[in-house]
Parts: sequence; C-alpha cells; structure tokens
Amino acid sequence: MATFNEAPPGDSKAGEKIFKTKCAQCHTVQKGAGHKQGPNLHGLLGRQSGTTAGYSYSAANKSKAIIWSEETLYEYLLNPRKYVPGTKMVFPGLKKPQERADLIAYLKETTTD
Ligand code: HEC
Repeated sequence: MATFNEAPPGDSKAGEKIFKTKCAQCHTVQKGAGHKQGPNLHGLLGRQSGTTAGYSYSAANKSKAIIWSEETLYEYLLNPRKYVPGTKMVFPGLKKPQERADLIAYLKETTTD
C-alpha cells in the first residue's frame, strides 16, 4: 500500500473543503470546541488513538492504541473500518491520495497548537 512518504503534497485550503463536506458533521477541530458524534480533533497529531478526554470511544478505537501521525492518518482515512475493525465511525474512506494529503495538511494546520 502507498505510504504518506509517497503522497502528493497536501493543500490545506483544499483540505478545508473536504473537511467541511465530509468530516465536520461529526468532528470539530478548534481547541475546546466540544465533541459531536465523533471526538474533537484538537491536538490529534502525536496523541494515542481513543484518548481524548470526555469522549466515549469504542473498545476498537481505544485498543488500536496507535499514535496519530501523518503516516497513520493517511492509512486510516483510506479505509477506517479496515484500519480499526469495529470502529463506530461510519465513514467509507477517501480513496484519492490527493484528498487524503490535502485533508492531513488541513488537520495539521488546525489541530496543532
Ligand atoms: C458520521 C460521523 C463521522 C464522520 C462523517 C467522520 N467521523 Fe471520524 N469519528 C467518528 C466517530 C463516532 C469516531 C469514534 C470512533 C470509535 O470510537 O470507534 C471517530 C473517530 C475519528 C478519529 C480517531 C480519533 C481518536 O482520538 O482516536 C479520527 C482521526 C477521525 N475520526 C477523523 C475523521 C476525519 C478526518 C473525517 C472526514 C474524512 C471523519 N473522521 C469523518 C465519526 C465520524
């Protein structure tokens, strides 16, 4: 499988559009913005999966116990239910490398202090 190292450069502006149409109904990115159906994503990069305070994760997401990074997000977002079998996140995945790279650029910009 292609890895993040082989991904095209990400464009955070394009990533913002993708986030708004595909993720924002379930996630916020700003610090302290609160949880929706999914957890607030602030501080995501460098954090272990399933550890955001005040959010009730599935056992699958918690026991995956990986560190979210550009590399792990790139693989996760291709097919979340394959990467975290049993996750309660209902999202089919983003097949296009460019879309994942753009989204990761946006997440890096908005969820990092
Ligand atoms: C229909 C609602 C929904 C949509 C759409 C959705 N998510 Fe999620 N997401 C969730 C839920 C619910 C969880 C918690 C999963 C669990 O506990 O199994 C989650 C978990 C996550 C996690 C893991 C967080 C952690 O702390 O371990 C990441 C990263 C994530 N989503 C990113 C995204 C991105 C990026 C998109 C857009 C491409 C997206 N999600 C679209 C509902 C959604």
